[in-house]
Amino acid sequence: MRQITLSRDTLHRGALILVNALHKAVWDRPETLTAVGNGVQLERQAAALLEELMREIGGWDSILPVSGWRSAEEQQAIWDSCLQENGPEYTRTYVAVPGHSEHQTGLAIDLGLRQEHIDFICPKFPDTGICGQFKERAADYGFILRYPAGGEALTGIGCEPWHFRYVGVPHARIMEENRQTLEEYIEYIKQFDSPLHPYCIRIGGRAVYVSFVPATSENTIVEVNEAAPYQISGNNVDGFVLTQWT
Ligand code: DAL
Ligand code: ZN
Repeated sequence: MRQITLSRDTLHRGALILVNALHKAVWDRPETLTAVGNGVQLERQAAALLEELMREIGGWDSILPVSGWRSAEEQQAIWDSCLQENGPEYTRTYVAVPGHSEHQTGLAIDLGLRQEHIDFICPKFPDTGICGQFKERAADYGFILRYPAGGEALTGIGCEPWHFRYVGVPHARIMEENRQTLEEYIEYIKQFDSPLHPYCIRIGGRAVYVSFVPATSENTIVEVNEAAPYQISGNNVDGFVLTQWT
């Protein structure tokens, strides 16, 4: 086992950061932005997994990347123009308050069915056909439907069938199986705070353990097994999620 020292600022980085009205996007200039087409960029890992998923289903023929990483300034411009065109209720339902959009992290993408007119705020992404196939396969590539119908009170955002968020493979699978929003999952995983009792899921015949380490006021120490792959992500709230493959 090896002890990894995490500085306080890493709390705001990683695939599992929770960004919503209560928790702002502190990490909002990803160093590894990668083009995914149509002038849209995503964080490198998210972009790579999206490409793989699209390749599997032949998705790019019919689906267009509409919006990926946004700077804080872009989010503000979108908010301002939406407010002017559609009013406050619509804007609060479909646009995150500037500074609090997960688009600023590079981990979120809006996808739309290719057609002559594409609505930039609410692109068309039906449950059927190629879009339905995308949704069915998304969790196996680490993506979740971030704003589901019925989740409005938890996420603070209206149902957005077009907005997908990269969280990583085991986590997307767990959230899908448990029918949890990211808000619920971040709370849920906190009970697995002992290395002796992690959450366990089998992926491709391999056990993956997920556990939570609360952040301390200065550096936080996380114990990992370096003999196998692992990932550590801040939750952007109060601790770190350790994902350990066996
Ligand atoms: N449409 C989502 C909520 C955003 O603006 O980040
Ligand atoms: Zn979006």
